[in-house]
Amino acid sequence: ISFLTDHPLSAMASGIKPQVEQGDSDLVVEDDKMYRNPTEVKMSQIVLPCHANHRKELSVGQLLKWMDCTACLSAERHAGCSCVTASMDDIHFERTIGVGQVVNIKAKVNRAFNSSMEVGIEVSCEDLYSNQQWKVCHAFATFVARSTRAEKICLKPLVPCTHKEQLEYSMAAERRRMRLLHIDIMKDLLSNKTFQWSPSEEGQNEQLTVPTEKTRVESVELVLPPHANHQVNTFGGQIMAWMENVATIAASRLCNAHPTLRTIDMFHFRGPSQVGDRLVLKAIVNNTFKNSMEVGVCAEAYQGEESQRHINSAFMMFEVLDEDGKPCPLPPIRPEPLDGSRRYQEAIARKKIRLDRKYIISCKQTEVPLSVPWDQSNQVYLSYNNVFALKMLAARTKWTLSSEKNNVRLYTLEENQTLCFRIESEVNVPAARAFLLLSDLCCRPEWDKLYKQCELIIQVNDDDFIYHVLTPSVSEGGKVQDFILLASRRPPCNSGDPYVIALRSVTLPTHPPTEDFNRGEMLCAGFIIYEVSKSVSKISYYNQTNPGVLPYISTDIAGLSSSFCYTFHSCSQYLLENRTRHSVLSDTEI
Ligand code: COA
Ligand code: ADP
Repeated sequence: ISFLTDHPLSAMASGIKPQVEQGDSDLVVEDDKMYRNPTEVKMSQIVLPCHANHRKELSVGQLLKWMDCTACLSAERHAGCSCVTASMDDIHFERTIGVGQVVNIKAKVNRAFNSSMEVGIEVSCEDLYSNQQWKVCHAFATFVARSTRAEKICLKPLVPCTHKEQLEYSMAAERRRMRLLHIDIMKDLLSNKTFQWSPSEEGQNEQLTVPTEKTRVESVELVLPPHANHQVNTFGGQIMAWMENVATIAASRLCNAHPTLRTIDMFHFRGPSQVGDRLVLKAIVNNTFKNSMEVGVCAEAYQGEESQRHINSAFMMFEVLDEDGKPCPLPPIRPEPLDGSRRYQEAIARKKIRLDRKYIISCKQTEVPLSVPWDQSNQVYLSYNNVFALKMLAARTKWTLSSEKNNVRLYTLEENQTLCFRIESEVNVPAARAFLLLSDLCCRPEWDKLYKQCELIIQVNDDDFIYHVLTPSVSEGGKVQDFILLASRRPPCNSGDPYVIALRSVTLPTHPPTEDFNRGEMLCAGFIIYEVSKSVSKISYYNQTNPGVLPYISTDIAGLSSSFCYTFHSCSQYLLENRTRHSVLSDTEI
């Protein structure tokens, strides 16, 4: 057994076998080679009464400190220098951890970008007496490498080795995109009038509502050396713990009980804090829902006479559990005028966004039902899901070559009762050009006879487009099929990454199914384009079939025809003829 040293992409191309994890061992065996991720850092802590709350459960603040510390050490292992927490994505806590149980935290760098890295963190708990283990949560944090000098650090690239690492590496680019858009998305959505809902419309009885003023908390902390790293920067985990502390007080004041923290929204450390800073932490309940409440917290720092710097804002969802662990109903609140009413409405918007994000992002592959209607508030998550599903499909390893003709190969994959196909060939067209031409779905009728007509309905942004596509009837004399497709395109994030054009059906409230057509559904399809050389690209078209799509390809898959080869041939002809033609879609990005 030797250690894996191959370049990841060549390993991926050679069809690496799925990894075999040996229990909780750090060693992964893949392709008969044994491997340990060099950035992996583990921490185990026994939960003592001093780490726990009144319910004898580990306080989330303490857990956040341990998670941040483990992740920071992993980031520093890759960076070789000191790192600071830039952001933490949504964390959903699946269970609480009791005194006497052991918390196991595992962190590893998924990808290094320029000066920042994504670190994946997994938290589980272990009961030493019953020998049982449970998953508590998993999170993604971004750390930025900082040098003592002013200039920005350029990190060495991370080379993913195992199949799982390659997937995380690829998805980290998608998550980063979503993270960097987050602040703008929230701003846009909070100003979106469709979410506006006034408390008075609820017809609430004033007597039964709790004034939010009752829940307001303001607390100060002095940052001392134990709260900071050797470069005197305050640990992000420490700030999160202080924020969680005031949020818990605000939540307790509303329910007069011990609340349980369920979810923390994605948040971002806007600016650094150092030893000697006074941190002012403010929290208030923004809104209550049937069984949960949103508490908002903001952290500001100052030293001496200087004005306060806004360091962080976070939104946390709490529940109150009864003796059986079931969430109890919470009283409605009466927000204060102005800021209170605004935050009340913003909490409603955040609830919808949080649900979309949790549901759409956490769904595996194509499990997101097509009935999730596309809208402005979930478009980033549907786009993420679209690209994620295609990358997952492309990363499957058990493809079998079904037929080959004129250098066009048709592969199939049968897994979990789904049938997928992949058509692949090389074309004498630069990858960037092929990407641009293929992303413009309106041109597809020029080379694909199955695309009778294609109309662009919405250009969402530079990367996402929604089309109405007509395809011929699958049965003689039957109705023409139509599809509403979301096309999400991504140029490479780094050299070695492919160009991606992902396609999936979406439900568009403005375009319901009509009598004239049979509405078809496409679960997951699209192109992955690799640069083979400056002038040659390898194009793979993937499709996860369902009854709406299968009839178009079934005779090819059964080996009864080779129309796939004909279609691919016309596709390459089209690309060759249009090597220099300007596309409808802007190519400024490329
Ligand atoms: N989430 C994730 N990464 C983010 C981010 C966010 N919300 N905002 C910026 N970044 C990343 C950028 O993508 C960039 O990554 P790259 O170099 O790999 O491309 C990196 O941070 C630096 O971005 P840049 O635009 O050069 O700097 P900035 O002025 O936006 O500063 C921080 C970003 C995070 C360095 C800055 O806000 C900061 O110092 N925050 C406090 C960090 C800290 O001290 N944390 C501990 C607790 S206070
Ligand atoms: P905004 O004040 O615009 O709502 P911030 O980012 O400043 O946004 O604050 C985030 C959250 O922190 C608010 O939604 C609120 O719940 C809480 N918060 C902010 N300021 C105060 C305050 N003065 N007192 C109590 N809680 C506050």
